[in-house]
Amino acid sequence: MKIAMLGGTGSIGEGFVLRWAEKHEILVCSREIERAVNVACDYTNILSNKGIQCCTITGCGNEAAIKDADVVVLSVPYQGVISLLEKLSPLFKDQIVISLVVPMKKNKWFEYTPPKQGSAALEIQEILPKTVKVISSYHNVSARKLANLELSLDYDVVVCGDDDKAKKTVMDLTHEIKNLRPLDGGGLASSYMIESLTPFLINLAIRNGLSDLGVKFV
Ligand SMILES: NC(=O)c1ccc[n+]([C@@H]2O[C@H](COP(=O)([O-])OP(=O)(O)OC[C@H]3O[C@@H](n4cnc5c(N)ncnc54)[C@H](OP(=O)(O)O)[C@@H]3O)[C@@H](O)[C@H]2O)c1
Repeated sequence: MKIAMLGGTGSIGEGFVLRWAEKHEILVCSREIERAVNVACDYTNILSNKGIQCCTITGCGNEAAIKDADVVVLSVPYQGVISLLEKLSPLFKDQIVISLVVPMKKNKWFEYTPPKQGSAALEIQEILPKTVKVISSYHNVSARKLANLELSLDYDVVVCGDDDKAKKTVMDLTHEIKNLRPLDGGGLASSYMIESLTPFLINLAIRNGLSDLGVKFV
């Protein structure tokens, strides 16, 4: 598949590129093409230094990637993703869009700040054409652990969405990351539950001297 990582130059983008590039063609997308090209080159070098053969990792602007992608991953902060998608929306057709986006702010502690639609995922579905299949997932995966290919990610990943075929594609992509277990979390309307866990996990980590907390259902 061809996977476009919008904001793929950032913290969580790196881990997904490194983990998926063995099997998939990856487009690392940025607001600045030069930055995307440099970062794509860095990711390729990281894999090649580990002796890992990968498909192509190409840097490009956010706009250029959408048309040809099968899957578009939104790895951009909430503060930027809505205006970005309002601009890019006409370029989308029937892609699978994976939202990792968590609207949150820090007061004394981190707080979930959903939009009026109820969650970032529902707001994103409203902006994009109806033919686009929005899937909400990966909000509770640590960027640091994901980017460290030596580390095992013994987490569960809840996948929410209204299109079963698209949800299966994302669950299959999750299986490709060693030890991550995808769980069907129902429709996109359930996204607020997994989005809101992120600030909760960060607060738990800060208050208890922990780091990189994830979720495991037993
Ligand atoms: N970090 C985590 O552990 C983690 C875990 C799960 C989910 N998430 C979610 O994943 C998303 C990305 O998180 P992150 O930590 O990777 O963020 P980040 O490193 O701060 O930003 C990711 C990329 O987004 C682009 N960006 C930043 N501000 C933007 C704006 N105003 N408009 C358009 N693009 C912008 C930047 O790319 P360019 O400058 O190259 O355009 C940046 O490299 C967030 O929604 C977050 O809630 C994060």
